[in-house]
Amino acid sequence: MCGIIGYVGKRNSVPYIIDGLKKLEYRGYDSAGISILQEGKLVTVRAVGKVAELEKAALQLSPKGTTGLGHTRWATHGKPSEENSHPHTDCSGEIVVVHNGIIENYLMLREQLISLGHLFKSETDTEVIAHLIEENLKHVRAASDEDRLLKAVQKTNKEISGAFAYGVMWARTPGLLVGVKNQSPLVVGVGKDESFLASDVPAFLQHTNRVLFLEEGEMALLRAGKVTVLDKTGTPKKVRPVKISWDRQTAEKGGYAHFMLKEIYDQPQAIEDTLRTARTDFGKILGMDTAALRALRQVHIIACGTAYHAGLVGKYYLEQFAGIPVTVDLASEYKYRTVPHKVKTLAIAISQSGETADTIGAINKAKEFGFHTLAICNVLGSTLTRVCDRTFFTHCGPEISVASTKAFTSQITAMYALAVSLGKANGNLSKSAFDAAYRDLMQLSKAMGETVKLEYTVRHLTRKIYKADKFIFLGRHVNFPIALEGALKLKEVSYRSAEGFAAGEIKHGPISIIEKGTPVFMLMPQDGLFEKMLSACQECRARGAFVVALTTPGAEKAAKSVADQVIQIPQTNDLLQPVLNVVPLQFLAYWIAKRLGCDIDQPRNLAKSVTVE
Ligand code: G6P
Repeated sequence: MCGIIGYVGKRNSVPYIIDGLKKLEYRGYDSAGISILQEGKLVTVRAVGKVAELEKAALQLSPKGTTGLGHTRWATHGKPSEENSHPHTDCSGEIVVVHNGIIENYLMLREQLISLGHLFKSETDTEVIAHLIEENLKHVRAASDEDRLLKAVQKTNKEISGAFAYGVMWARTPGLLVGVKNQSPLVVGVGKDESFLASDVPAFLQHTNRVLFLEEGEMALLRAGKVTVLDKTGTPKKVRPVKISWDRQTAEKGGYAHFMLKEIYDQPQAIEDTLRTARTDFGKILGMDTAALRALRQVHIIACGTAYHAGLVGKYYLEQFAGIPVTVDLASEYKYRTVPHKVKTLAIAISQSGETADTIGAINKAKEFGFHTLAICNVLGSTLTRVCDRTFFTHCGPEISVASTKAFTSQITAMYALAVSLGKANGNLSKSAFDAAYRDLMQLSKAMGETVKLEYTVRHLTRKIYKADKFIFLGRHVNFPIALEGALKLKEVSYRSAEGFAAGEIKHGPISIIEKGTPVFMLMPQDGLFEKMLSACQECRARGAFVVALTTPGAEKAAKSVADQVIQIPQTNDLLQPVLNVVPLQFLAYWIAKRLGCDIDQPRNLAKSVTVE
């Protein structure tokens, strides 16, 4: 976790860095810091808490300089404190480092460095990088200080192990920043007379949209408007910046009070954008020929959190359309269970960020078995997309709110597109069934546009129930994962107890927790299981629950007879219905959190992408 930003250019770097840190806060926000090279000396300011605290502290000291680094932290080694905040320095105070990831052998290195006389000031793994560079600088020979720094960093990279991305600045090499990427995200922005180093593109997008994506093991040397990339072997490599089409506004709130709300409203467009890939690249998504597709015997889906719920929905799609058995695993579990791997398998990793360490670990295991691997991912150039054979980009734009909304519905949409294309290719789906499934998919964005109009209804409802201490969500079949997601969303942003169950299971235990007034949300569109959901409503109501039925046109009357409130959701086909059904639950989580005064975009204890295991 953590966010890194660096600036080198012709202007004062401080506002660029502070602003970049604010854009990176979703990656961690327990402390932050900056170091600026001011007239040959490094000035460092650090503060516990959010970037706003750092900004206040920086204003007092008002450092100025054209080269600087910044960091926003999500603690892994050492508690959130000023001493543990980045940037970290060596003994001389001339080298500063900001880092994202984990240095696995840091304890051993720390002991070695201490025995050589280095003094450590923090409990972090990061600090060993600064001291190692200092130590290595003593031993490398080169014509210039810049070359010495480069060699010392290269030597350091050979000595540290783990997943890391870091930025280095040395007081003796003004106008130079060094970036290193090894299995943690790091991108470079190339502007006119200025260059940026960051964990993610939105950190500098308002200044340049020309981006260099570093490969694993690569380094970047940043100077004002000029960047040199060195490959794994240290050889300079020719790379052209990619032009990112996300504009500044896309990456910002667009007038909404919170990113979460904006991103819920982004969903019609997000679905449209996700399907653009499906329209143009349908046959090519998987990169397998027909014979290979027909030979597939099983699919393994791997993901974490919200993406896992998208995977659970995807299982129904693949089994229905492509007729292939599917398992869905939490990535953190997949990695440590015995996985039978003798048959032809497609492994699909779903991840918004493409940087979730558990997911990357699990897909690497799948690769070791020789499985064909596909990422369903939103972030261009992310680690997961490099690890997998192919990627289906959801293209739903940057998702900043920690609680995932538009990425989730885009992931389900992608799974549906994939499943029908697979079904067509392997002969499981007739032409007419494919056409019908495809037609519904192409109407989905429009239906989503209608669904987001439910905000007012849900907002009104939350007034009655927001003080409840627990919430229950029930659904069956494709709507069971939506019950899980509804509960997760509410937990994430409002810190309330919430649980999702398969509605058929309620009588086997969970019903005991229902008390008078417990809000129970029933996902009950008019499908083949509607009657069974009606019974579940009655069972809950008989125990005093406050039942909210989420249903589709035509079923309202029946739903009203068993529920305290009915929310009518636009209708699509039964299998796509979850994409719409989750929307009122997203609004529900948002409005309960808002009424409770929670920090919606950055809930306590969470981070947007968890890049540690
Ligand atoms: C974190 C976030 C969750 C997210 C999960 C997976 O835990 O807090 O909201 O669902 O990571 O993230 P990914 O980027 O892999 O989809």
